[in-house]
Amino acid sequence: MKKHFLLDPEITFLNHGSFGACPKPVFDIYQKWQCKLEERPIEFLGRRAISLLAESREKLAEYLHCCAEDLVYFPNPTTAMNMVVRNLDLQAGDEVLTTDHEYGALDRTWRYFCEKSGAHYVQRHIPLPVTTHADFVDHFWQGVTPKTKIIFLSHITSTTALIFPVTDICKRAREAGILCIVDGAHAPAQIDLDIEDVGADIYVGACHK
Ligand SMILES: Cc1ncc(COP(=O)(O)O)c(C=O)c1O
Repeated sequence: MKKHFLLDPEITFLNHGSFGACPKPVFDIYQKWQCKLEERPIEFLGRRAISLLAESREKLAEYLHCCAEDLVYFPNPTTAMNMVVRNLDLQAGDEVLTTDHEYGALDRTWRYFCEKSGAHYVQRHIPLPVTTHADFVDHFWQGVTPKTKIIFLSHITSTTALIFPVTDICKRAREAGILCIVDGAHAPAQIDLDIEDVGADIYVGACHK
């Protein structure tokens, strides 16, 4: 695969999760767009960008199986999740149920906003190795109480690359009237993602990981 990247051939690059190297064809195309912007900055940013972004949203929505109107671009998943959490109406005593496999920056975001509002951030311990999807859901669900308002968990975890059964969790959450927010930072293009099928209330992803 190395020939498809601009990576120094002397290194073995394994971390496409933090700052993934860009494949050459993608790099070439985004450089072309940058040049177009430089040719006519005002026209590009003031007019063309709006229709180009709408077009790209249509394409991305098709790829991810969701509605283009439901897609919003952010600089990265951390910014997107901060926007989401900041706008939730968390109340004192509410519970946010999560796992102890969540990504550090988002873990801290949830903890911060829960502390601020008096909500409880409940981290369910997920022992390794995991067994079946059904066992995972049963075990995780033992953390749900009548005060659980929100479930937040990763689709693919950053530390272990485990794929959590988010579709099953979202289904159960919907039946229980609990909002389900999924961190899918690693999912687009890595697995065959169908966002409608996942059924999350909010799904945050990235196309560069
Ligand atoms: C599971 C997971 N969620 C969210 C993020 C945040 O991504 P970013 O730093 O691009 O906002 C990462 C980053 O590696 C991650 O691994």
